[in-house]
Amino acid sequence: MHSKILGTGHETGPTLLTNDELSRIVDTTDEWIVSRTGIRQRYIARPEDGVVTSDLCAGAGRKALEAAGIDAAELDLIIVGTVTGDCKFPATAVFTQSKLGATNAAAFDLSAACSGFVYGLELADAMIRTGAKKKALVIGGEILTSMIDWEDRTTCVLFGDAAGAVVLGECEDESGILGTYSRSNGDLAELLWTPGCGSLRRLSPESLAEMDHTVKMRGRQVYTNAVRCMADSVEQVLKKTGLQPGDIDLLVPHQANIRIIEATCERFGFPMEKTMVNVDRFGNTSAASIPIALDEAVRERRVGPGDTVLMTVFGGGFTWASAIVRL
Ligand SMILES: CC(C)(COP(=O)(O)OP(=O)(O)OC[C@H]1O[C@@H](n2cnc3c(N)ncnc32)[C@H](O)[C@@H]1OP(=O)(O)O)[C@@H](O)C(=O)NCCC(=O)NCCS
Repeated sequence: MHSKILGTGHETGPTLLTNDELSRIVDTTDEWIVSRTGIRQRYIARPEDGVVTSDLCAGAGRKALEAAGIDAAELDLIIVGTVTGDCKFPATAVFTQSKLGATNAAAFDLSAACSGFVYGLELADAMIRTGAKKKALVIGGEILTSMIDWEDRTTCVLFGDAAGAVVLGECEDESGILGTYSRSNGDLAELLWTPGCGSLRRLSPESLAEMDHTVKMRGRQVYTNAVRCMADSVEQVLKKTGLQPGDIDLLVPHQANIRIIEATCERFGFPMEKTMVNVDRFGNTSAASIPIALDEAVRERRVGPGDTVLMTVFGGGFTWASAIVRL
C-alpha cells in the first residue's frame, strides 16, 4: 500500500504585477529581471485585495478535490507547506480545513520554506502507507509578498503569491509515489531567512526599523547551493527508485529562477524539452511552485496516466527534496 495523486489544482493571488510595473516602484528593469531570473510577471495578493494565504490554499484545494472527484468530508488529513501563513498560530491548515468544510480531517502546517510541498508529500505518503490516513490534501501556499521589503530590489523582484494542491489517496498498483528523498542544512540558514518576529529577535520598534520581519537573502550563495543540492537529490531519488533519467517523462523543478533550472538539468544531462517551466509567469511562489507547475502540466496534458514525473526543490533552511511519482 502506498499513495497516488488523484487530483491537482492551483490558485494565484488576484493582482498581476509585471516587471515594468515593478520598475516604477524600485530601481530595476524588465531586462535585468528577465536576464537574471527568467521572471516576466507574478501574481500577488495586495493588502487591499483582502485575500489571505488560507483563501489561496482553499481555492487550490477545491480545484484538486474537484479533479479527484472527492468530497472535502472524505479527507482525513490536510498538510499546508507555508512560511507565510494567515497568522503566527493556529496553523493556516485549520483555516483551510474550515473554508473547505473538511470536517473529518486533521490539519497542520509544515515549515520547510520552498521545500514545504515536497516534504508534505513525503509525509502524507508515509502516513497513508502506515494506514494512519487514507485521503490527504497536500498544499503549498504562500503570500511571500507579506514579508517582502519593497525597497530591496535584490529580493522584491523574485516572488509571487499562490497556492498549489494535490489530493493523495491509497493505491496498490504500480502507479503513485515511487520514491522520495529529503535533506537539510541549518548551518546555512542565514543565507536565506526572515530573522525577526520570533523568539530570536522579538518584535520591537528596533526590529521593525531594521526590517527584520522581511526576507534577507545572499543571492549568489543561494544560487550555488540550489544547483548543487537539487542535482544531488535528483541523483539520489533516481538511485533509490532504480530509474534512469531516460525513464522520466517530465521534470518539475522548483520555479525559482530559469538559470537554476537550466544548470540543474545540465548537471544530470536532462533535456529542457522535458522540463516544466512557468517561472516567467508566476515568479518564485516558494512552497506553491511545484504543485502549480504539476497542475499546469496535467491540465495542459503534457503528462497523463502512466507518465513518470520527477519533482525537485530547494529552499530556505536550507532544505531540499525530490520525489518521483507515476500518474
Ligand atoms: C538573485 C540573483 C538573480 C542575483 O543575480 P546575481 O547575478 O547573483 O546578481 P548580484 O546579486 O551579484 O548583483 C549584481 C548587480 O545587480 C544589482 N541588482 C540586484 N538586484 C537587482 C535588480 N532587481 N535590478 C537591477 N539590478 C539589481 C546588484 O546591486 C549588483 O550591482 P553592483 O554590481 O553594482 O553591486 C541570483 O543571485 C539568484 O538567482 N540567486 C538565487 C535566488 C533564489 O532563487 N532564491 C530563492 C531560492 S528558493
